[in-house]
Amino acid sequence: MHDSNHVAVIDFGSQYTQLIVRRVRELGFFAKLYAVEDFPDIGEPGAIILSGGPKSTADADAPDLDFAALQAFGVPVLGVCYGMQLLNKKFGGTVEASEKREYGPADLYPRDCMGLYEGVSEKSQVWMSHSDTVRNLPDGAEVIAVNQHGTPVSLKWDDRFYGIQFHPEVTHSHEGMRILHNFLLEAKDLLPFRIDDFKREVIEGIREKVGDKQIVCGVSGGVDSTVLAVLLHEAGANVRAIFVDHGLMRKDEGDEVRNNFHRMGVPIETVDCADLFLGKLDGVDDPEKKRVIIGGLFIDVFWDAVGNAEMLAQGTLYPDVIESASNAKSKASKIKTHHNRVDRILELQAQGKVLEPLAELFKDEVRALGASLGIPHDILHRHPFPGPGLAVRCPGVVTKKRLDIIRECDAIFIGKLKEEGWYEKVWQAYACLIPVKTVGVKGDERSYEWAISLRAVVSEDAMTADWVDLPHQLLRETSHKILNDVDGINRVLYDISTKPPASIEWE
Ligand code: XMP
Repeated sequence: MHDSNHVAVIDFGSQYTQLIVRRVRELGFFAKLYAVEDFPDIGEPGAIILSGGPKSTADADAPDLDFAALQAFGVPVLGVCYGMQLLNKKFGGTVEASEKREYGPADLYPRDCMGLYEGVSEKSQVWMSHSDTVRNLPDGAEVIAVNQHGTPVSLKWDDRFYGIQFHPEVTHSHEGMRILHNFLLEAKDLLPFRIDDFKREVIEGIREKVGDKQIVCGVSGGVDSTVLAVLLHEAGANVRAIFVDHGLMRKDEGDEVRNNFHRMGVPIETVDCADLFLGKLDGVDDPEKKRVIIGGLFIDVFWDAVGNAEMLAQGTLYPDVIESASNAKSKASKIKTHHNRVDRILELQAQGKVLEPLAELFKDEVRALGASLGIPHDILHRHPFPGPGLAVRCPGVVTKKRLDIIRECDAIFIGKLKEEGWYEKVWQAYACLIPVKTVGVKGDERSYEWAISLRAVVSEDAMTADWVDLPHQLLRETSHKILNDVDGINRVLYDISTKPPASIEWE
């Protein structure tokens, strides 16, 4: 999709490369990431960005690309950090190791406020992260910006080739978005990326591939699988949407998922297997063992429900695609644990029978697609919920009694967040049972009951997270209601741990 007129970002291994793709999309253009090994097989891009990377261009194994092929595309090229150094070498200049690695903020002084730097301040903060630097410039190269020491940090080699030593994609480069945008404006043939156009194309693609074959997909009530199921339905596919209720869901969640799909007019089938899951989890207290049991069972139950369906749709997103491409080896070893059921997916994949229509989208783009499909706002803005469900919010053994207590506390907490307008301000919030009994007094009697921990975090991508400073009155009222209404709890705690070092979930 969009193989013409998109922005091709070539990955030289920088930790920020994915962010470049995101930023270009935020600027309204479609961007795709390519491994440098795949160059020049990148379709017909309207612009090319060469990313940064950890290597030095002097290293024997430094990533390289076919410069003649790059020139043959005839489109604007922007080299970022390593990308700029590589371009300088290709044009005949030199690169050498700096005396010391430059990491952090620097001042940028554009020579002219035009082209790449149109509308950019005379002095602007940018973010550096490099150890090599360009030294000799080839004939015809032009320095278009310097840093506070007068060192060139931005070059232009001819009409179409630009280089920047800094990272425009990180927010610490205060005018980075403007600089990126100015670069993209140099590309005359770029098409804007509109989610409605994307939707039309994806739907056509689904119709073409699926025809009248039966296609199955799993739904969990989460954003990705919901958008996937609605998309297939909208495409008129003969789709079976299967909801495996493993009994580790939150209070009334099964009914809520069914109601939501009913509201959207998409039929789903429920496989109710709470007893099976609880039975297999009996006595298991190790978090990873819980995960393996739940993951394995889930796949078994799902495939039994699927029967002989010919095609399978999965809600894979772009970050997963990028990660699995860069991490192919570690992924392959993980997959092994799920035996033949996963072999069946690989088999279907080899036959072109696995459809991943969201695989080019980031999470917020999936939400935009969902909105364009008419999916209600509350469904698209649900907090993430882990696959193993409440099992990872129940340290120690998982029992029905413990799960019921978590469900009650969680419903009170989440209800309060919604009532007070906090639900959508936080990334994720939940209750976790701490199965340690402490002494208290309830009525006139001594109580000896468990504690519940409440957690609310904000995060960009779940990699790091900060706890939310919720209003004390909200916490006070939540605690009061839990202590009054939930049997088995006599103590409420609020978790004030950041990630890292804590994780978002307890297990
Ligand atoms: P952690 O606890 O690792 O969580 O900081 C990061 C994000 O991932 C979710 N999570 C999971 N999701 N299966 C999932 O599908 C899992 O086993 C799992 N563990 C954690 C978690 O809810 C948070 O959003």
